Amino acid sequence: MARLRIAVLPGDGIGREVMEAAFLPLERLGLDAEYLWGDIGWEFWKKEGSALPQRTIDLLHSTEVCLFGAITSKTADEALQELAPSLREKGFKYISPIVQLRQLFDLYVNLRPCKAFPGNPLNYREGIDLVIFRENTEGLYAGVEFHPLPSEVRRILEIHHPAMKRFSFASDGEIAVSLRLMTKRGCHRIVKKAFEYAKQFGRKRVTLVEKANVLRETGGLMIREAQEVAQAYPEIIFDVVNVDALAMWLVKTPEQYDVLVAENLFGDILSDLAAQLIGGLGFSASGNIGDHYAIFEPTHGSAPKHAGMGKVNPLAMINAMVLMLDWLGELDQSKTLEKAVRQVIYEGKARTYDMGGSASTTEMARAIAKKIA
Ligand code: NAI
Ligand code: MG
Repeated sequence: MARLRIAVLPGDGIGREVMEAAFLPLERLGLDAEYLWGDIGWEFWKKEGSALPQRTIDLLHSTEVCLFGAITSKTADEALQELAPSLREKGFKYISPIVQLRQLFDLYVNLRPCKAFPGNPLNYREGIDLVIFRENTEGLYAGVEFHPLPSEVRRILEIHHPAMKRFSFASDGEIAVSLRLMTKRGCHRIVKKAFEYAKQFGRKRVTLVEKANVLRETGGLMIREAQEVAQAYPEIIFDVVNVDALAMWLVKTPEQYDVLVAENLFGDILSDLAAQLIGGLGFSASGNIGDHYAIFEPTHGSAPKHAGMGKVNPLAMINAMVLMLDWLGELDQSKTLEKAVRQVIYEGKARTYDMGGSASTTEMARAIAKKIA
């Protein structure tokens, strides 16, 4: 029996194309693994009323790790219109499967490395090699929102917050609130993961991105927790930078950053900025990581505009596989795969359309597979 069980969820549109292509180099590595393909995405929403069928959740529970392609999401109205007529009156509601999976498996780390491979014509600058740890379960995306503001909630806020007086001109219906909810546990564990990663991969510096001069309570909690965690890693430099300043620095001198750690919203925005520095959606991969399970995916979506044309870049999916191998502790295999990617980019013979070339998805993946002995 194979040592590892890996779930594979290709999903919709180009998700399926990049997954199939990325298996060309992955299979060359000869990992002692069994791959179990599962159902996810729009097709299953339309046919079954769930984009994440229970059998897929069961499949994930029976595996060590998951590779995910991409899915299509649409508005609530469109979702209902496209649902099979026989299911329409049955009260099905579309929920994003990737959000569901993050909650179900408590995948609190969103890991986003951004490395400028030399020779990539899309690099903003060479020498960029940073890793973002974005908190994936709380912060401004905790999901605690009000509109209209319930009058009981408003009353309590007015008792505890003089700042609420300034909003007396607005009725309850004219106020919307999204709560930036952060916990000691949430702050602690994301920072801890960032430091552990820095230690494992010989990184020299961890930078906490916050805005504690304005968001004093949540930002303050995050900074205190981070300072405490940092004490256990005296060999790693720890600093704190305001998020607005960091956005500027990332454009000015991105190569000076190493590991960045941030709350959900800040991390979301900064990771898209950083992705563009190293070539954009064709290159950027991420990991959704918890204590017991992880899902690795390209950052891009299902790109319906390009689906079925076999032309998109499979590198983001392949880079997601590199991250998976790192997480599994298969460091030789991850180095081999990353080296193959680096060589193909450096040689510049195989390039997909986004890199200014004409290689197909499969040709690009095959070029990488060929570099693996
Ligand atoms: P998208 O990421 O699918 O595509 C945007 C554009 O980026 C494409 O039109 C293409 O020009 C470029 N692009 C994306 N991947 C590429 C690749 N591998 N190689 C070269 N170029 C690439 O975002 P979009 O169009 O906003 O969303 C399409 C669908 O994907 C929507 O239904 C959306 O909800 C979903 N989505 C799913 C995600 C996921 O599965 N995690 C993430 C983002 C969007
Ligand atoms: Mg985003």
